[in-house]
Amino acid sequence: MIVNTELEQKGNLFPSKIIGFEKDVDKLYFTTDNDVILQLTVLRDSLLRFRYTTVGNFDNDFSYAITKYASIGYNRLKIDENEDYFVVTTSKLRCDISKESLRVSIYDVKDNVLINQDEIGFHWEESYEFGGNIVKMSKVSNDGESYYGLGDKPNHLNLKGKRYTNWVTDSYAYGKDTDPIYKAIPFYTGLHHGKAYGIFFDNSFRSSFDFAQERRNVTSFWAQGGEMNYYFFYGPKMTDVVESYTDLTGKPHHLPPMWALGFHQCKWSYYPESKVKEITSTFRKLKIPCDAIYLDIDYMEGFRCFTWNKDYFPDPKRMVSELKEQGFKTVAIIDPGIKIDKDYSVFKEGLEKDYFCKRADGAYMKGKVWPGECHFPDFTNAEVREWWSGLFKELIEEIGIKGVWNDMNEPAVMEVPNKTFPDDVRHDYDGNPCSHRKAHNIYGMQMARATYQGLKKYSYPKRPFVITRAAYSGTQRYTSTWTGDNIANWEHLWIANIQAQRMSMSGFGFAGSDIGGFAEQPQGELFTRWIQLGIFHPFFRVHSSGDHGDQEPWAFDEDVTDIVRKFIEIRYQLLPYLYTAFWNYVDHGTPLLKSLVLYDQDDVNTHYRTDEFVFGEQILACPVLEPNAKGRRMYIPKGRWYNFWDDEVVKGGKEMWIDADIDSMPIFIKEGAIIPKFPIQQYVGEKEIKEVTLDVYYKKGKEESELFSDANDGYDYTKGRYSLRNFTLTGRKNELIINQYKEGKFITPYETFKIQIHGLPFDISEIQLDNETISLNHLKSNGTSSFVVDKNFSELHIKGNQSKS
Ligand code: NOJ
Repeated sequence: MIVNTELEQKGNLFPSKIIGFEKDVDKLYFTTDNDVILQLTVLRDSLLRFRYTTVGNFDNDFSYAITKYASIGYNRLKIDENEDYFVVTTSKLRCDISKESLRVSIYDVKDNVLINQDEIGFHWEESYEFGGNIVKMSKVSNDGESYYGLGDKPNHLNLKGKRYTNWVTDSYAYGKDTDPIYKAIPFYTGLHHGKAYGIFFDNSFRSSFDFAQERRNVTSFWAQGGEMNYYFFYGPKMTDVVESYTDLTGKPHHLPPMWALGFHQCKWSYYPESKVKEITSTFRKLKIPCDAIYLDIDYMEGFRCFTWNKDYFPDPKRMVSELKEQGFKTVAIIDPGIKIDKDYSVFKEGLEKDYFCKRADGAYMKGKVWPGECHFPDFTNAEVREWWSGLFKELIEEIGIKGVWNDMNEPAVMEVPNKTFPDDVRHDYDGNPCSHRKAHNIYGMQMARATYQGLKKYSYPKRPFVITRAAYSGTQRYTSTWTGDNIANWEHLWIANIQAQRMSMSGFGFAGSDIGGFAEQPQGELFTRWIQLGIFHPFFRVHSSGDHGDQEPWAFDEDVTDIVRKFIEIRYQLLPYLYTAFWNYVDHGTPLLKSLVLYDQDDVNTHYRTDEFVFGEQILACPVLEPNAKGRRMYIPKGRWYNFWDDEVVKGGKEMWIDADIDSMPIFIKEGAIIPKFPIQQYVGEKEIKEVTLDVYYKKGKEESELFSDANDGYDYTKGRYSLRNFTLTGRKNELIINQYKEGKFITPYETFKIQIHGLPFDISEIQLDNETISLNHLKSNGTSSFVVDKNFSELHIKGNQSKS
């Protein structure tokens, strides 16, 4: 046990005893006799904020992470005092604050179980070099405690025993142990004794987390400046913790256009125009569904953002509209570096308006990126963001580009050891001027925000689509993301799976990897396995550096093309299911991917699983992560699950071998689920969908499912023009009942549901639709399990009179 004296010798300082207490509505102030103040804010019964100052007063309270739409308000707040503690009680938590040391202990108010406890708690070191403090917090790590979250960390899903840093970094060809990489999401969930809580350390300086690595019983976090400022979320369910964090830092402002959930093809770079068209035409010729085609930096004139290389793309507007005719949406890259070139209008305007970042002594920040020496807009200035958003007018409104991809926004600078701006660069930070030490982690987020504002404005009445590489907590409000420059190898397939799950449990669901690998060249087998995983990632894009050969679905052998087509088709069939899950994410922050621990935290077998996850609410998937595999062992969570391929039912709660040759992968459907499916389309909107298939998986008992629909784009759904169908399935020995409850004003283009029943244990003798018997002639002869009904039924009652043998 390290005692304070040892830490004192290392220059650490500690709060002394509490000498004052004040309450200001939901804010409680505890002051010590060495000028430390703890400001404890009760935001919700299960959400507390802890903020510390060491100088007797607080700085302006400003955060890019917290959304103004966060839900706040509590039911109960009671403050008591005894000899040793102040005791703060809400309807969910009890929080004891030691009068002697300012240390905090948090309990579940219902059963008095200790959830989280300061070890040394808040302490700090003064920073002579920069001024201010290095702020630190240490907490007790409980026996058997597990930790999850932190965004894009490429290592094991359970963070226990590891130390990580948050400093967004351009990380070409990173590996499993590279840290930090592109994102800074200082939020984790702890789980012990069946209860989950979360901690979000909202400090944008370089921060670190130690999950019982240095000392077995201690978890700590610290930052190189700023305040000790963290939020504590209580579950006890992990999904509640993640939803609560997502609520605080923001759900996506709206649904993506449905096409953005289709398949995207990208490469560095497709040019000239004839190459782009060759790619899109091949997709159509080979009947491989695809919605988006990407233009990487070579579409620009000398890598100048918002320009076009007219040799390669003589008439971008015509090209984009021809691609649109084929059903392709064109997405273009935009980087933050603006080339220093006195004849380049964006540069000239930025300079005239004084929009570029400056060094401490006033010189402009100059750094090399693709176009050569550049200046960089200060996206932390609202006026600069407004200007930047206006630059998209031509690209979006005139030319018809449908999505923008923000890259290199860590910000990445080439040929310098720290890969980014020097620490002394100044930023406006929305009226809270600071150095790059504080603004670095949010720079990319603010660029993506400005881009989003532009796209939102010029795409109207359609919804915008943005992708970013760099991110801080809260970036999910504006944009999707990918996991950066990975490598075409099997380990990276494992990493991609972990990263997408981890992003989901870090509030940022709209994420995916460069399928096939960015650096180097995959074999057809790896590419196929990666596509199989990719169909379950909310952002579904193939991308590669282009240095090592082609990475289109037809670049390998014909078998690969056929299998890849089959899987992309499954993705397109599942679009209404994914869209419904996305709506749940946008509406209540429900994670799109649920790692097994998130799915069933009470089953300790799930705490160290990495490969299996639940996509949406009811589909279990597990990629094959090794070459030459004919299947794999996997853990099936508790409950009964239908094998997607042959409807065989397995009972979970154990690990088992699942066959999955190269044309297959382990996919299971939860019993009782009703999975909505579209017909296969080559792109979203290719067909007017008149009928939606409902795959109904019989269960003895009850299960709820949902189907959300709207116009697939536009904002009408926010005004009530959506359709939400809640299905309740009730299965008994000789009957199956499906009740439908509808909500919303949207009239769906589909008129009917094709019901396909799986696993029915009896022969159908009668079907009643809203109390009217329907003719059994409608049933297919092969297993009497498929028939068509009007979409607006309230009750579907399927009866049988004998059990199938
Ligand atoms: C780095 C990005 O991560 C990659 O996706 C892109 O293709 C290159 N920059 C070139 O723009």
